[in-house]
Amino acid sequence: MKKRLFSGIQPTGEVHIGNYLGAIKNWVKLLGKYECIFSIVDYHAITVEHNPKDMPQRILRVATVDIAAGLDPERCTIFIQSHVQEHVELAWILNTVTPIGHLERMTQFKDKAARHRENVNAGLFAYPVLQAADILLYKAEIVPVGEDQVQHLELSREIARKFNSRYGDIFPEPKELLSDAPRVMGLDAENKMSKSMNNYIGLTESPEVIWKKLSVAVTDPARKKRSDPGTPEICNIYHLHKYFSSNEEIDWSANGCRTAGIGCLECKKVLSDNIVQELAPIRGKARELDNNPGYVQDVLRRGAERCRELAQETMKEVRSSMGLDLNLHPQPSKL
Ligand code: TRP
Repeated sequence: MKKRLFSGIQPTGEVHIGNYLGAIKNWVKLLGKYECIFSIVDYHAITVEHNPKDMPQRILRVATVDIAAGLDPERCTIFIQSHVQEHVELAWILNTVTPIGHLERMTQFKDKAARHRENVNAGLFAYPVLQAADILLYKAEIVPVGEDQVQHLELSREIARKFNSRYGDIFPEPKELLSDAPRVMGLDAENKMSKSMNNYIGLTESPEVIWKKLSVAVTDPARKKRSDPGTPEICNIYHLHKYFSSNEEIDWSANGCRTAGIGCLECKKVLSDNIVQELAPIRGKARELDNNPGYVQDVLRRGAERCRELAQETMKEVRSSMGLDLNLHPQPSKL
């Protein structure tokens, strides 16, 4: 039997090349090797301020683009987290075996708390517990994530251990699977590529928009003029070439930059063309799905049905191990 894999996808509404290179592209390669479950984690998304009106569209867009990018619903399960309510039930239960000292150490919590000072809520604090619940609910053993999630995975293992030692061996300890793609920097060359920093190239953006964004993207900050020789290693555009361009083009870019043989715009044009070419099939597939919105909704509905079944099995075990399975007499009493 194949091991089970689980990962969570933030419903950002926009999937960008950072998500693609750092996550989706690698997940697609794992579809045959593991039994894969992907959840669009809307319960996580509400731990920071959001506009309720936008949420349905954000969820559907991410589902559509992820399917277009290769998460074939015939080979994996995709569902919306809040459609399987056992996630919150298990999260609550796991809260009771999670020391708050561990949560206080989470760097993502500290970062987000600093960025959203006006809304440091208990849900944000317990975010990693919900994440542990996501994984443990399906007894998933493999969790493909980026470097920034390793601490959350360590905590998930710790929570599984604590639960098991108190209530019996129910959960396997999940392991992270790190992709070989390092984190992709945004077009500002300063922050990780992200929707919220508005420094991204979207997977379904038009060739014109991709070029517009790239043409103003930050390059080697020390190369001030066309005639200055540059240093490719410190140029974000050069690093992007490594994901999208041929070896010849990567060498051409590095040598041209070092010798001031090419200008930044020239270098960016080649990158832009290559990105456009790689994304063209994804863009086409997304458009096809947009013309058939019933399909994506069907996928999500079927996904939730399957996950609900699995989740209910686990919850039965969990409740009974904790003494939460009192069975009341089914007959109404006659007084
Ligand atoms: N916290 C993850 C992120 O921000 C998303 C996530 C939620 C997740 N639940 C998960 C990832 C379970 C892996 C497994 O990227």
